[in-house]
Amino acid sequence: MKVDGVTYRSVWVDPDDGWSVRIFDQTKLPWTLDILRLTTRDQGAHAIKSMQTRGAPLIGAVAAYALCLALRADASTEAMERDAGLLNATRPTAVNLRWALERMLTRLRNTPPAERVAAAYEEAGRIADEDAAQNEAIGRHGLPLIRQAVRPARRVNVLTHCNAGWLATVDWGTALAPIYMAHDAGIDLHVWVDETRPRNQGAALTAWELGRHGVPHTVVADNAGGHLMQHGEVDLVIVGTDRVTRHGDVANKIGTYLKALAAKDNGVPFWVALPSTTIDWTVADGVADIPIEERGQAEVTDMTGQLADGTIATMRIVSSGSPAANPAFDVTPARLVTGLITERGRCDASAEGLARLFPERA
Ligand code: MRU
Repeated sequence: MKVDGVTYRSVWVDPDDGWSVRIFDQTKLPWTLDILRLTTRDQGAHAIKSMQTRGAPLIGAVAAYALCLALRADASTEAMERDAGLLNATRPTAVNLRWALERMLTRLRNTPPAERVAAAYEEAGRIADEDAAQNEAIGRHGLPLIRQAVRPARRVNVLTHCNAGWLATVDWGTALAPIYMAHDAGIDLHVWVDETRPRNQGAALTAWELGRHGVPHTVVADNAGGHLMQHGEVDLVIVGTDRVTRHGDVANKIGTYLKALAAKDNGVPFWVALPSTTIDWTVADGVADIPIEERGQAEVTDMTGQLADGTIATMRIVSSGSPAANPAFDVTPARLVTGLITERGRCDASAEGLARLFPERA
């Protein structure tokens, strides 16, 4: 995708040295577009943990590159297994992280240590390329849903939660890919952007992305979605996901479940966009079996923003002494999901629907 006319992906190998890894520091957006240079395993792990880089598909790709950096330091089998384990432990909910590291290990276990670094960069590059291609395909399969919602003399209103745009993937995004394609196809479209407390991925990242691409959008408080749906202001919801079970339950950023409930009550279609790397075929019941990341209290008690003089400041917004809880994801049961948009097409959020698209996994 383009920022101010320059084409970027969300992770890439530095073309000047051919090995260090570049990412955007998403904790600095929307105020500054800072590009970080990762040179070690620990920098890669820190970037994922601290959410300098984030979004299920992207953390998979960054973890794959972080393993490349680890192998540059020590390509022995013992170190490789240890470093993959360490990277896998950085964040628990998005299954793409485990998927990417397992794929790297499958390739590298059969590669002699002396050849591992080159093989690792090749495999990480493939993971990144495939993610970009899968998200583009998701855009193509999601676009008809937006086209179908077009009414004479009325814009199409899509609501999205969190950031499932190109910043959360290698390119294109998942939920935002159909939106970018619809906008580029000339469809009169407007996006309601949930601010997505506590980390504000909607207000800070989705709004920034959509603004850079010229897509009309409005940021709303997380609590506004139900009201907008009741008043006919939302034609469809499209969200991303961090893990989908083989039965179609959807883990996504905290607050997604409430939007799905409101959508059901108001007859608004609720679609979930995902590359197949986000499907966890080992899990059936999402509420019982998907690990939900519990993050620090400060994300709830404190807010970071820009003061009128341009300074970035963090301040406490919660009564001092009051504790806070911060579950970062929730699970939307499959029965509340209208359907899934994948790189192979759309399907019901069900074991049967997923098996139809992915018969080799069923
Ligand atoms: O905690 P984050 O920001 O890494 O959350 C992941 C996400 O970006 C969202 O849950 C998103 O909707 C799914 S990832 C495309």
